[in-house]
Amino acid sequence: MASFSKVLDTLKLATDQHLDELVEWLKIPSISSSSERKLDIQKAADWVASKLANAGLSVELIPTERHPFVYAETDPVPGAPVVLVYGHYDVQPVEPLEQWISGPFEPTIRDGNLYARGATDDKGQVLTHIQSVCEWLSTDYSLPLQIKFLIEGEEEVGSESLERRLPELKDRLACDCVVISDNSQYADGQPAITYGLRGIATYELSVQGPSQDLHSGSFGGAVMNPAIALCHVLSSMVDSEGRIQVPGYYDRVRALAETEREQWRKLPQTDEAFAGAIGVPELFGEAGYSTDERRWARPTFDINGLTSGHQGEGVKTIIPASASAKFSFRLVPDQDPGELTHSINQHLVGNMPKGVTWTLTPDHGAPGMLASTESKFAQAAKEAIDEAFGVEPVLIREGGSIPIVTRFQEVLDCDCLLLGWGLSDDNAHSPNEKFRIKDYHHGILASAVLWDKIGKL
Ligand code: BES
Ligand code: MN
Ligand code: MN
Repeated sequence: MASFSKVLDTLKLATDQHLDELVEWLKIPSISSSSERKLDIQKAADWVASKLANAGLSVELIPTERHPFVYAETDPVPGAPVVLVYGHYDVQPVEPLEQWISGPFEPTIRDGNLYARGATDDKGQVLTHIQSVCEWLSTDYSLPLQIKFLIEGEEEVGSESLERRLPELKDRLACDCVVISDNSQYADGQPAITYGLRGIATYELSVQGPSQDLHSGSFGGAVMNPAIALCHVLSSMVDSEGRIQVPGYYDRVRALAETEREQWRKLPQTDEAFAGAIGVPELFGEAGYSTDERRWARPTFDINGLTSGHQGEGVKTIIPASASAKFSFRLVPDQDPGELTHSINQHLVGNMPKGVTWTLTPDHGAPGMLASTESKFAQAAKEAIDEAFGVEPVLIREGGSIPIVTRFQEVLDCDCLLLGWGLSDDNAHSPNEKFRIKDYHHGILASAVLWDKIGKL
């Protein structure tokens, strides 16, 4: 009689193929923010659609105003739970290219890691669930639940198409639990279940001064320098301790529960180890909170890019005509990105030096999320991770954002499991992004065990 052990045997025999397939997918440069990559975006979507279709799922490529979604589902199983696996096939830009040891789209193995843009974020991680389901379907042991996949191509640019189309896709995506692997383990050797993410609000601020660059000798002292005006308002947003100065910013911030702080204090990673891994002399952040508290549950402000004036070789004594910055806030539960835009505008009105004009353009916004740690799905995930990784997972929050996740909770009224197989030193969004090959295979195994556990609920 067929049993789950048959699935496990099938999985173990296919590890080389699993890796080869990830390599193939990673070769496609599906950078969502780049208009020149439209074709590659389509290719990456087609690749995963074929992979799912070849395994017997019913698949649909859903076109959008921007990049297509790949939707697939296995057969319904009456009376059994329905799980929706969400992930993304789009990747971040690769600059600075000269810092990559091997090309971002020439996947290369070094020291047990697979290096390529998208290796951990998110092709490698979402593929773990696809592999587990495809292998399961290749056996004669039937899948004990229905699994749906929604793999999108705009996560790295804010998931706008999905946000817009979610109400209309509601019935198709109906599920008991969303499963996402687009995040990290707590540390090397310590897998985790993530029950919270921060939200985000991103902006571009551009400041205009004179109609063209001016000689700073002839005009310095007569006009406001837009780069100085920009520096002034940017530094007015945050004090030297990292406390945000925009009025009302902390009004809705949900305080950390003492029980939660207590649990996080027991986590093994030290500040020294954390600082060492990222090459800084010491860590920085808001007083009164531990590093994990600041990363996971406190709101922050960051400048992501700054542009003005002479960037070339040597000196050029000018007052630049304009200056601009891209900046973002990480948000925690109960903070509202729309409300924040209003307060930032007010703050800029009050703090921008005279003699320049400016425009603030909000880009994407998403609230912070929290998920249940007590649900039957979380229990199943604990057992699955324990069996596959050989270590019981710890419960953590993380500081990154997956814009659509709170919308899933609201619109689909479902539970949510964030199961990160990556590591925080996987270099997501940076040069030399990687995914540890062992974690990829453990992720595939954990995913298969999870379907077995959920099927038995
Ligand atoms: N996979 C990340 C989200 C993430 C990062 C979760 C770290 C947990 C820990 C995702 O692809 C991402 O990068 N999201 C962006 C969202 C933004 C572009 C709207 C982010 O967090 O900056
Ligand atoms: Mn991601
Ligand atoms: Mn990302």
